[in-house]
Amino acid sequence: MIFAANFKTNHTRSSTRAYMEQLAQTLASKRPEDRVLVFPPATALDRYDGDVTIGAQNAYPVHKGAVTGEIGLEQLEEFGIKTILIGHSERRELLGESQETVAKKFAFFKENGFEIVYCIGEPLEVREAGDDAVKTYLFAEFEGIDLSYEKLIVAYEPIWAIGTGRSAESEEIAATHGLLRTKLSCPLLYGGSVKPANISEIAAIGNVDGVLVGSAALDVESFSEMILK
Ligand code: 13P
Repeated sequence: MIFAANFKTNHTRSSTRAYMEQLAQTLASKRPEDRVLVFPPATALDRYDGDVTIGAQNAYPVHKGAVTGEIGLEQLEEFGIKTILIGHSERRELLGESQETVAKKFAFFKENGFEIVYCIGEPLEVREAGDDAVKTYLFAEFEGIDLSYEKLIVAYEPIWAIGTGRSAESEEIAATHGLLRTKLSCPLLYGGSVKPANISEIAAIGNVDGVLVGSAALDVESFSEMILK
């Protein structure tokens, strides 16, 4: 299993350090075949001890240059960061990232050998419109994306399940991951209100190779509980 924590715009540099120090104890007793990834805010990117991969939540597809407010490859290389989240629905919706922008980012970080956690997910009205609508929507989010990239991980995060406390039903996750599996051989993560109370059920679903956790991973004890369950 892959356990990934997306801090979003939470935690500071100092609280991330305290978090990572405590997480190191969990990592020492995790199952050796499991992987743990943490995506702190850009201000807390650093090197941390333990069997954990630190990733960037976002970066601009440039080595360095005149892109006010963004970070590029040079800022990630300083801390040996080689993993990045691309396509998160919050960036697509709140920051207006188009599929074209997302695909450009993907191509750049692929070219630079990054492990890419590529996020897709449909809004509620699409889910309510039925399976065909979901399929069309999700597959459109693969436009311009090299699905055979060997360092690809795909995270399915239905938008209506993010931060709402309402995870998708197991049957919905199973059906959607089954659909995605027809196109993908890479690890498939589920995200959207994953928490200690539902991690075992979600982890047991076919074609779920891991989880991408927001709110319930902000507290290190809660994230640790999920890793050790
Ligand atoms: P929540 O776990 O808070 O629903 O967030 C999921 C998510 O968006 C992770 O990227």
